[in-house]
Amino acid sequence: MEEKRKKRVFSGIQPTGTLHLGNYLGAVRNWVALQDDPSYETIYCIVDYHAITIEYEASEMPRRSLEMARDLLACGLDPGRSQIFVQSQVPEHTELAWIFQATCTAYGELQRMTQFKAKSTGREMISVGLFTYPVLQAADILIYKAGFVPVGEDQVQHLELARDVSRRFNKRFGRTFPTVKPLLTPTSRIMSLKDPEQKMSKSAGESHFLPLTATEDEVRTMVKRAVTDVGPRPEGEMSPGVANLFGILEALGDEEHHSSLMADYEAGELRYVDLKDAVADAIWETCHRIQERRAAYPEERVRQVLREGAEAVRPLARATVDEVRERVGLARP
Ligand code: TRP
Repeated sequence: MEEKRKKRVFSGIQPTGTLHLGNYLGAVRNWVALQDDPSYETIYCIVDYHAITIEYEASEMPRRSLEMARDLLACGLDPGRSQIFVQSQVPEHTELAWIFQATCTAYGELQRMTQFKAKSTGREMISVGLFTYPVLQAADILIYKAGFVPVGEDQVQHLELARDVSRRFNKRFGRTFPTVKPLLTPTSRIMSLKDPEQKMSKSAGESHFLPLTATEDEVRTMVKRAVTDVGPRPEGEMSPGVANLFGILEALGDEEHHSSLMADYEAGELRYVDLKDAVADAIWETCHRIQERRAAYPEERVRQVLREGAEAVRPLARATVDEVRERVGLARP
């Protein structure tokens, strides 16, 4: 009997060094869940070609990728069930991106990308790579003919571009690529602890994000300092900082504290210290578990996982690029 073909999942994450709580709850935990679902085949990529589109320190990049891989493994990605690799180790991605740029991406549609607008404002030098970033992202996915891409809300526009590129390519050169569908992460966005009106991200700066490598003291101090009230709110509306703390508690699965503290809130009797204590306990429990697992992955083992991951996926990427070269008229003359 023929086994039903697994649905292929692809996703990428920037090599920011170490993961923070927002990455974990908003993305990586969902990657692990998909890996554990037998109907999917999962490929996960650390996207260093994307990371070099803004200023960076060349000497730090290899370490950033390595630490990111180590954190992904500590969070539960399993090299026996997922392929995990660094993008630049499969240079075919850039060749496909070039062909997509040249043949089926319109300048005007890239101009409309909101992430480009946000990332380019205030920069001294805006690289062309930052502008064409979403085309490389489309190539990342389509080179493996992956149809399913777990991402957060902020990446939906990029996936629509990938879908348009694939449709245009198929129409012009013959059916080659699947239709890309986002698998939206179930957890709503985790916000910055310092400014709960913006997403938790490393680029916002220290004290905005909670690294998974934090010690228990650091977790408690950061949660204690988390902003709760940000000024007057309309009647009956929870302030974003408080909503974020409740959101974290819920995302971490502490239903008992979540519902009892929520009842306090509704009765107008919530003490922020109690909410913060519960949140800090739940965060520390998660960080501690991940940190213990980190220890099982010495650096040499992480390098080996990345090497084997790249070796496993590269033939797939190569085959797609060969097929594409044939279709677009770049086969050996
Ligand atoms: N742009 C994505 C982000 O910033 C990262 C990324 C690169 C990605 N290539 C991808 C995500 C392919 C999904 C699929 O989060």
